[in-house]
Amino acid sequence: MARSQAIKLTNSVRSRRVDDRFYRHLVSNLRTGVLAITRDGLLAVMNDIAYRSLGLAAGPDDLGRPFTEVLVDCPEVIGVLEAAFDSDDLPNRAEMRLRRTGKAIGYSLSRIYDDEGEAAGATLFFKDLTQVEQLEERERLRDRLATLGEMAAAIAHEVKNPLASIEVMAGVLRRQFRDRDDAGSTDVREQLDDIIKEAKMANAIVVEVLEYVRPIQLQPERTSLLDLLSESVTMAEGKIPRGTIVMDMSVDPDVPEMTLDAHQLRQMFANLIANAFEAMGGTGCVRVRARMLMGEVEPLGGTRSLPSRVRVEVHDDGPGISADDLERIFSPFFTTKPQGTGLGLAIVRKVVDAHDGTIHATSAIGHGTTFTVTLPVAPVRLPLILG
Ligand SMILES: Nc1ncnc2c1ncn2[C@@H]1O[C@H](COP(=O)(O)OP(=O)(O)O)[C@@H](O)[C@H]1O
Ligand SMILES: [Mg+2]
Repeated sequence: MARSQAIKLTNSVRSRRVDDRFYRHLVSNLRTGVLAITRDGLLAVMNDIAYRSLGLAAGPDDLGRPFTEVLVDCPEVIGVLEAAFDSDDLPNRAEMRLRRTGKAIGYSLSRIYDDEGEAAGATLFFKDLTQVEQLEERERLRDRLATLGEMAAAIAHEVKNPLASIEVMAGVLRRQFRDRDDAGSTDVREQLDDIIKEAKMANAIVVEVLEYVRPIQLQPERTSLLDLLSESVTMAEGKIPRGTIVMDMSVDPDVPEMTLDAHQLRQMFANLIANAFEAMGGTGCVRVRARMLMGEVEPLGGTRSLPSRVRVEVHDDGPGISADDLERIFSPFFTTKPQGTGLGLAIVRKVVDAHDGTIHATSAIGHGTTFTVTLPVAPVRLPLILG
């Protein structure tokens, strides 16, 4: 077969393949909203993303109907399309906000010309900008929080010194009244005790606020999880009396040494265990269990195995947390305890986030609470041996 003939044949096969259906699929699969109208105002094309972005439900006979009817709930879009044939200066990369849904839409309007150069219709390409806006808003919020954090840290520092002075001076006064046993002195001593107790508590809040707002600087080191968890229990016992609570701890033998900030994670687990001790009021059982999660399939059905991670569960058989409270326990200053700061779990979450981990809590009233922490096993970097 001559070469030119072969080329012609391929071209004709190609032109047969690229038929109308291909263009329809192209439009319906675009990740941009596409909407086209004919010169006489009928809706010619509207893909799924367009319906979704405009918050409309697709009707079976939409195509071929006047676009002003189909888009009756989106007057802003009708306005833009109606102007398509009025001027040559069509908007490109413009934005509008849909009053009905509050969504921000970025769009470009073009005219469709036929082979004779006549305007046969107009098309609107658009994208829902709500997510972009949310990202920008989050960015702004992060900046604002960073500034607030600096302010809180500065105030906390300023408050710490006067608080310490109040505590010390109240202590000095109490000593002066220690040996006097008249009725008035007993009252004064009690009031001084209250002052010292309150000052100590205010100081604890200041320390936790500082901890919460301070940017985290991880100091990773190779750590045995078993040692770390055991030390966390001791630390928790230093904060809250354990009473007769039974501790049941197990770390599966295949959990390797991990590279993590041992100091921060020790405090983090101590916070979880101390909360359990507090909730249980001296009796029951706290179970801490660590195991590997390896090669588990991604939730969306993919087959890629995830980097190996360790899952640590801290379970108590205490009173549990109500569904309403469960949604708020990680929020700063949420506490149900008269002397609580509500910052413990907020700091816990911050430390877990800094390690690229996740944390969640499940609970059933009367049956106890489980906190599940998942941490990636960071690659253990061996020290450089020189010489
Ligand atoms: N193991 C637990 N059992 C029951 N409630 C808990 C447990 N851990 C946390 N909570 C609830 O979460 C709240 C917030 O905890 P946290 O942030 O540590 O602050 P705080 O301990 O100062 O109250 C607690 O006041 C308590 O209501
Ligand atoms: Mg706490």
